[in-house]
Amino acid sequence: MKLEGKRILITGGGSGMGLELARRLADRNKVVIAGRDLAKLERARGDTSALQTRQLDVTSEEEARDGLGWVARELGGLDLLVNNAGLFRSYALSDDDAEAKAIEDIEVNLLAALRMTRLALPLLEASREGSVLFMSSALALAAVPGFAVYAATKAAVHSLARSLRVELKSKHIRVFEVLPPVVDTGQARELDVAKLSPEAVAYAIVAGLRRDREEIRVAQVRQLAPLARIAPSLADRIVTRALTPH
Ligand SMILES: NC(=O)c1ccc[n+]([C@@H]2O[C@H](COP(=O)([O-])OP(=O)(O)OC[C@H]3O[C@@H](n4cnc5c(N)ncnc54)[C@H](OP(=O)(O)O)[C@@H]3O)[C@@H](O)[C@H]2O)c1
Repeated sequence: MKLEGKRILITGGGSGMGLELARRLADRNKVVIAGRDLAKLERARGDTSALQTRQLDVTSEEEARDGLGWVARELGGLDLLVNNAGLFRSYALSDDDAEAKAIEDIEVNLLAALRMTRLALPLLEASREGSVLFMSSALALAAVPGFAVYAATKAAVHSLARSLRVELKSKHIRVFEVLPPVVDTGQARELDVAKLSPEAVAYAIVAGLRRDREEIRVAQVRQLAPLARIAPSLADRIVTRALTPH
């Protein structure tokens, strides 16, 4: 994919990997970052004036529809939707608030990515090079204690990306997926484990998109993906170790 003159929407683009990706793309493309926290979006625009911002809760059908309408008017269409908004957290199923957290995780990580994609379809179809990028995770490929719900949402996103890649081919919409390891962003910042920088992930995403790599496996996930197929228990142990504090 040529990343020039593209009209791009990045959900959850006010911080972390979404923001780093937005900064990297903003020079040569029209980029809107969206999220719930207006102050965060304003700070991001203060640092990178080329970015446009839109307050948007991806769990709301109405806000998602209005937001995409606004993007279409402001940018004159949409070429790339980046479904990056997400919650990364660990908890035990026996926790008092596990039910509420699990519902929220599924709503944000899975259902909202699906909603944004569904609502963006007419815009992406109208673009000559419409694409969707899903942010999944190394945890889509492995079983890690404490991260059961998070891993399940990302495994579902992984499956969704694979199916939609085939399903949307007839509409000439391309589907990309990014699988990063643990990154020094969001709630993962609190984990005392080795982490990749968000800059490195943004660099890998841009390089992957430029090479039309549909599954963008970042850093050690390149080795993890084949391992998870041939020796899943070993892959589980490696990822569990990577998420165990020093
Ligand atoms: N950190 C890791 O180790 C890691 C590894 C692999 C994949 N990931 C995934 O990477 C993505 C980006 O996360 P990050 O690590 O860069 O953390 P982050 O800085 O916390 O970014 C997550 C973004 O999602 C937005 N968001 C959350 N709920 C939302 C909602 N209902 N509506 C709109 N926006 C919402 C947040 O913005 P507002 O609060 O302003 O809404 C925030 O900017 C997530 O999908 C995460 O699961 C993370």
